[in-house]
Amino acid sequence: MNNFEFHNPTRIVFGKGRAAELAKLVPVDAKVLILVGGSSAEKTGTLSEVRLALGDRMTGTLSGIEPNPEFDTCMLAVQRVRQEGFDFLLAVGGGSVIDATKFIAAAVPFDGDPWEILLKSGRNVGSAMPFGVMLTLPATGSEMNNGGVITRRSLAAKLSFRSRHLFPQFSVLDPTKTYTLPRQQLANGVVDAFVHTVEQYLTYPVNAPVQDRFAEALLQTLIEIGPRLTAAEEPDYDDRASLMWVATMALNGVIGAGVPQDWSTHMIGHELTALHNLDHAVTLAIVLPAMLSERRNQKREKLLQYATRVWHLEHGTEEQRIDAAIDHTRSFFEKMGIPTRLGAYKLNQGDVNKVIDLLEKHSMTQLGERREVTLEVSRHVLESAL
Ligand code: NZQ
Ligand code: ZN
Repeated sequence: MNNFEFHNPTRIVFGKGRAAELAKLVPVDAKVLILVGGSSAEKTGTLSEVRLALGDRMTGTLSGIEPNPEFDTCMLAVQRVRQEGFDFLLAVGGGSVIDATKFIAAAVPFDGDPWEILLKSGRNVGSAMPFGVMLTLPATGSEMNNGGVITRRSLAAKLSFRSRHLFPQFSVLDPTKTYTLPRQQLANGVVDAFVHTVEQYLTYPVNAPVQDRFAEALLQTLIEIGPRLTAAEEPDYDDRASLMWVATMALNGVIGAGVPQDWSTHMIGHELTALHNLDHAVTLAIVLPAMLSERRNQKREKLLQYATRVWHLEHGTEEQRIDAAIDHTRSFFEKMGIPTRLGAYKLNQGDVNKVIDLLEKHSMTQLGERREVTLEVSRHVLESAL
């Protein structure tokens, strides 16, 4: 296992009906800007529940944060926070609202053009406003980590940032808040959490059995509950709760501590979203199976471990077991209603070329745990996903 530091200050408040505890979690004298996405938080009643819990604190609400949040929208919020003097941000939503809130928290005190935060991946963030989260969509893990992703459509750019100043102070995780999610968003959540785990697990062995077994537990839980969640007519509390906790644990630093990490599937996926506005998880479902197949030699030992321990594939040659593990992964995504080929989204060779150009523009030319995913490798991956 490699050396590491682990620090995660986010307090998790988990369970049914716990939104009321925002009354204690948010400082009593705070002037709070509540941030929401489109209309879901209002329609589901979560927004009024949050307002009720905040009592007579001074509050404002900013709605309209898009899925794959837009830089310009965040900048409107930054202006409003500065003008009206809010001193606490409360994100009510999924990864997009949380990421936007993180960016706004960093941008308000930032000296200079906040676009620089994204150009430097957050390394230039010196401070941030305090913020908390009321989670409505389990997927990204943003509720317990210090990273985010912001899109600037006019530049076809989707860039990530992180900083030690950007952990939420707290996140309220109420699994019943997921009951209103459309099937597609549930499937997206399962896929995103699955791929987060794979990006940190499926690299090369470094004698980190705790991280490995923990990652395998997360993957196996998702394999068990995923198809059930997307097929169920009625929401099941226990499955919703498991999804929420898996998604949070998959990207809060625990399984990634002291192990090599890949993230090439994510980086290519971000370009696909920037160009074609595909859901984040959809891009991962397309890229991951092709990426694993392309890099089977570099990932051989971990792929075999994945085949045996996660999919229980014990028979056949090494090559057959690796193929079967990748096929199982693909079918798992497809079974939940997410096609895994670019063609299914009407994308073709010309679109592959555009993704490669964008990767080059963003210096994504040496991705992966050994930095060997060059533009040529990315091209092979995308072409094999056509
Ligand atoms: O906008 P509203 O009306 O609220 O509707 C949202 C949105 O349309 C809806 N929704 C959310 N909660 C709901 C609900 N609908 C009904 N009932 C509820 N309880 O769901 C739609 C999608 O929401 P969004 O927040 O965009 O989804 P997700 O949580 O998947 O977030 C995706 C974003 O997170 C980034 C992605 O790149 C993407 O921009 N990521 C963030 C990461 C991080 N911070 O660590 C890591 C991830 O890899 C990812 O890149
Ligand atoms: Zn993701």
